[in-house]
Amino acid sequence: MQSTPGFKCSEWAHLTSLAQQRKSQHIRDLFDADSDRVAALTFQAGPLTLDFSRQRLDAQVIESLLNLAGQVGVEAARDAMLAGEHLNNTEDRAVLHTALRLSRSAELVVDGQDIVADVHAVLDSMTVLANQVRSGEWLGATGLPIRNVVNIGIGGSDLGPVMAYEALRSYSDRNLHFFFVSNVDGTDVSEVLKQVNPLETLFIVASKTFSTIETMMNAASAREALLAVVPADAAEPVSKHFVAVSTNHARVVDFGIDPNNMFGFWDWVGGRYSMDSSIGLSTMLAIGPDKFSELLAGFHAMDEHFKTAAPARNVPMLMALIGLWNRSFLDIETVAVLPYDQYLKRFPAYLQQLIMESNGKSVTRTGEPVPTQTSAVYWGEPGTNGQHSFYQMLHQGTSIVACDVLIPAKSHNLAGEHHDVLVSNALAQATVLAFGRTKEQVQQAGTAQDLVTHKVMPGNRPTTLITLAEIDPFALGSLIALYEHMVFVQGIVWGINSFDQWGVELGKEMATTISPYLTNSEDLSEFDAATQCAINWYRANRRG
Ligand code: F6P
Repeated sequence: MQSTPGFKCSEWAHLTSLAQQRKSQHIRDLFDADSDRVAALTFQAGPLTLDFSRQRLDAQVIESLLNLAGQVGVEAARDAMLAGEHLNNTEDRAVLHTALRLSRSAELVVDGQDIVADVHAVLDSMTVLANQVRSGEWLGATGLPIRNVVNIGIGGSDLGPVMAYEALRSYSDRNLHFFFVSNVDGTDVSEVLKQVNPLETLFIVASKTFSTIETMMNAASAREALLAVVPADAAEPVSKHFVAVSTNHARVVDFGIDPNNMFGFWDWVGGRYSMDSSIGLSTMLAIGPDKFSELLAGFHAMDEHFKTAAPARNVPMLMALIGLWNRSFLDIETVAVLPYDQYLKRFPAYLQQLIMESNGKSVTRTGEPVPTQTSAVYWGEPGTNGQHSFYQMLHQGTSIVACDVLIPAKSHNLAGEHHDVLVSNALAQATVLAFGRTKEQVQQAGTAQDLVTHKVMPGNRPTTLITLAEIDPFALGSLIALYEHMVFVQGIVWGINSFDQWGVELGKEMATTISPYLTNSEDLSEFDAATQCAINWYRANRRG
């Protein structure tokens, strides 16, 4: 892949000077200067409309950002990714999550593999299982139908499934109960096991590597719970209650899962890009194969837009470049994701892994330090709950937080008043974040003099408004693909590899090293003084 990191391009310096010149510019001034601003900065991509007018930029900045993307070679990088080049250079892997949502008739052969045929073969076997479970045909070891589905996984093998389950709950089969276990803290699995009868439960062990300690321990505890209640004469209980989603056939078999109940995927699907692979099995079980196809179609629609729209109208590219402007040029450190839809309550957590595990890097693809800021910190909470919590800081704190406000026009529940009030809150917040309230306005409202400065709202918080008709499978797929491609473009411009995650490895290794010392009484001198002290505290206090 031929691309040049943005900070090595001449346009980078231009953007730096534009940012300097605009330091004191307020969003209010930008609106005053351009009566067409909203129309000019509102873009459509499939079911989503993005209004960037409340961002701190003008046409000149957009033009310069697009020039930067041109100099970097973003379009060529995108085409290289879609064609299956090994963009994940530190792991020598292709990056092909977009292939997971290609239609059956598409063609894509990469590294000698007929990707589309493989993807659809797995989707077909997922469909068979989903239909069997949903119809009650799949029976457990004692002949009982499945009433509970427990997804056991962590990171990308959890966050996508749980987010999608919550987001699409109004489409889910209410005869099935879904649970998600991720944390190695025994409380997580235990609390779920207290709620389900293992004899009526299907456990999905979701792990790309099938070696992640959290998932393996939780799966083993679930298997133990099943074996504790299953009658001694029941045939093959594990095969009837456990299925696996993984790339690691050998380990799945080792665990005792029937390989016929293993749903595969491939090393070219990163964990955090995997919810539309077989990792989405719980999603398919919840909403059914047809709605799962609609979800995939929504992803694909955004892929097509990303692939074909000119950069100046390419919504993921624009969103990425605007985010990069905020982060690398305006020095804004965090983005709050504020969905005004309760069904999207896990969306901020999902985005945290997608964005921060992808772009939280400080060396380039070739290992040199990146001389600019990379990933922003993403966080958030749904709608009005956040307003009664951290919005105070968003409005009047000393750090500027950029905001993505998401609003569906229609609610799945109690439309009318509830939803009107919700939307009025979303719109009010977007307005106040951008425009604030000046000292003069506060004074004109007759505020007591000693309260004036307390009531001034600085505004100028860059905010993107994302609107859509409703949260349905198609729209959700498009929304996720929007952020996936945003991450890709930002990674390319920063010159980093968005598809590895070396930063999580050392902690895992250390935990493995420390683990035996918690329960033995071996000498601790190989550890630093602080770790020795903490291990000694635990040795003295642990419940044996
Ligand atoms: O620890 C990071 C990570 O590798 C993620 O990237 C991944 O989504 C998660 O762990 C789970 O990995 P696995 O699916 O292999 O269990």
